Amino acid sequence: DKTQQDAQKLAAALEAVKFIKEGDVVGLGTGSTATFAIEEIGKKVREGLKITAAASSKRTEELAKSYGIEMLDLQTLGSIDISIDGADEFTESLNLIKGGGGALFREKILASLSKNRIIVTDSSKKVLKLGAFKVPIEVIPLALQYVVNQVEKLNGSSILREKNNETFITDNGNFIIDADFGLIDHPEELAKSLNQIDGLLAHGLFIGLTNKVIMASSNGVVVFE
Ligand code: A5P
Repeated sequence: DKTQQDAQKLAAALEAVKFIKEGDVVGLGTGSTATFAIEEIGKKVREGLKITAAASSKRTEELAKSYGIEMLDLQTLGSIDISIDGADEFTESLNLIKGGGGALFREKILASLSKNRIIVTDSSKKVLKLGAFKVPIEVIPLALQYVVNQVEKLNGSSILREKNNETFITDNGNFIIDADFGLIDHPEELAKSLNQIDGLLAHGLFIGLTNKVIMASSNGVVVFE
């Protein structure tokens, strides 16, 4: 149930925050699990921990600032020491689907800049094969139909994401399509094919962008690395 899931998310987040060291540049993820980590980091900062941070979304940026965390501009940041983010699905081979919150592009840049990428989840995110969760794809509006067509050629069906009955717009002013490829046998290959589509800014398949998944379950915290 919800409270149990929240307790798990908190446990995973607390475990991840232990890896942050004095002076680190920390990448802050988006979503409810990452939020538990941000709250804990804020607490440590108030207790005297000196770190700086970069955010994976506007929402996270505001939250982190409200906790008194000193924020850096991702645009001019050369590297990040450690990042803590959530995921929508993960496999034991440390491949992920992200982007349920729509922040996938910035999350991907953050992960790409980061030296140590930690994902925090509850046990509901662990799957044998990715793909039950639809793959979020950020599309430059002009290319919407083109991208939908190309995704179809890869045997994916797309739904344009909406929020409150209106087309969902990302932090970057783009659309999200949620693409259903069924269960994905070869995520690396699909990721490569998607990367070649013009007008597709980013997709939610995170391949080789994770060092550690900290998953909390009813039996305690399990680490995949
Ligand atoms: C944001 O775009 C996503 O990638 C999040 O990391 C994901 O939705 C996880 O969120 P929860 O921790 O709330 O499940």
